[in-house]
Amino acid sequence: MDSNNDGIGDFKGITSKIPYLVELGINAVWISPFFESPNDDSGYDISDYYNVQKEFGTLDDLKEMVDEFHKNGIKVIFDLVANHTSSKHRWFQEAIKSKDNPYRDYYYWFDKPPFDWKSNFGGSAFEYSPETGQYYLHSFAVSQPDLNWTNPKVREEMKKVIDFWVDFGVDGFRCDVLDNIAKDWEKGLMSNGPKFHEYVHEIFGRDKTKNLYLIGECWSANEDILCDLISEERGELTASFLGGNVIYIDWNNNKISPNYEDIHTYFSKYQILAQNNNLIFPPFFENHDRNRSVSSLANDQDLRYESATFFATLLYTSFGTPFILQGEEFGTTNSYHKNIDEFNDVSCINFYKENKNVLDNHELMDKVNFLSRDHGRRPMVWDNSVNFGFNKGATPWLALHSRGKEINLENDLKKEKSIFNFYKEIINFRNSSKALIYGEYNDLTTSENYYKFSREYEDEKYIIICNYDKPSLVDIPINGKKVFSNYPLNQSNNFAPFEIAIYEI
Ligand code: GLC
Ligand code: CA
Repeated sequence: MDSNNDGIGDFKGITSKIPYLVELGINAVWISPFFESPNDDSGYDISDYYNVQKEFGTLDDLKEMVDEFHKNGIKVIFDLVANHTSSKHRWFQEAIKSKDNPYRDYYYWFDKPPFDWKSNFGGSAFEYSPETGQYYLHSFAVSQPDLNWTNPKVREEMKKVIDFWVDFGVDGFRCDVLDNIAKDWEKGLMSNGPKFHEYVHEIFGRDKTKNLYLIGECWSANEDILCDLISEERGELTASFLGGNVIYIDWNNNKISPNYEDIHTYFSKYQILAQNNNLIFPPFFENHDRNRSVSSLANDQDLRYESATFFATLLYTSFGTPFILQGEEFGTTNSYHKNIDEFNDVSCINFYKENKNVLDNHELMDKVNFLSRDHGRRPMVWDNSVNFGFNKGATPWLALHSRGKEINLENDLKKEKSIFNFYKEIINFRNSSKALIYGEYNDLTTSENYYKFSREYEDEKYIIICNYDKPSLVDIPINGKKVFSNYPLNQSNNFAPFEIAIYEI
């Protein structure tokens, strides 16, 4: 929400929408990075960890926002980007000057690339720096040099950053690509090196940080690493996103997983893993790096309501802490654009540049539209006023949603079948049920057409049936009463596409 009509969303804008979030019923927000940055990678390239980008407001505005959230019982999590800085950061600007600069060892330098590592955003992960004739490592964009975590000074700096924001009043961090901070030089791997746990414990296993909610982004961590990382005894993290390879955009093959069997696997495997190891599972479909789930995984046309509510029910009946992305709560779809100027995501712009002379324009733009992380980043579509209510008419920083006229919050709320209202109800339902929050999970699936599971706590028990995209005859619990559904509450076992139902046993 852009409060001062300069085209850019800002802290005051968010603050003005807190009542909306209260109404939705959520109890914590994660806000992606707003620190000083040249914005090559939407703020994940930080040039000053202690300041905020002027466009978003001042530190006082940020403080006001955090306080206002707290007054409303909502916790606030910031993004901690610890693996890399912006190349515009003072440390890097110093480091490139000479091999004996005091900041040189804040980054990794090589006479020649030691591995053929690829950057996550295309091209080699090593970039030549002409000032000193050496290469530096960047796991992401060229302008995001990796910090050298083997250097104790870097770890000290990061502790200072964390402590500054803890004193500011933040409740926790979402730790960006955390498994990348420790490389495995011996095995030639870019993440999960032998020192990973040691580093995480060093920064977070302290008194100052012990009450924070810390959620890692650790896609390449295997189950053993995850169990260590988030077990309570070790003083590392509270939770970690799991199963990135199950629901993820595959850039190289230009495809999006999953199919419905993958969704079943994702929800079942990680709930069981979490349950057996006393971990927290954060189920999610969307974030700022992904497509909109109704478009990529279901039906964003005539069954948009059914698709969105199907996903909502999966999330809020899970054992764990569900995460949703702005707009997901009223079924925002992907947005389609013909011109590359209407995109901002560095990874899709790199893809465009690399393939400009390879693919014909039509195919190229189809892929860009399919893969772009901008689907999760476009300005919110609040209503039917100018710029869909994002601001008062100034050109927004990123092109508005192509279906904003049809799909916006105001239109959703006018409908009898409102996705937002469904979200409110399922969140409320969950919050009032110990079985859904703490209850044991059991996978009862017997068919490849639908997913069936139970949640149980003391004498409270639910069986949940989630039918995939085709009509099917499902096995309904004989002793169960249908108490919640995205279709009428009858006892039929003939389920329509994306029909879900919660049975009280
Ligand atoms: C994470 C962020 C993504 C960012 C990348 C590099 O994956 O979610 O948006 O581009 O890290 O910081
Ligand atoms: Ca603004």
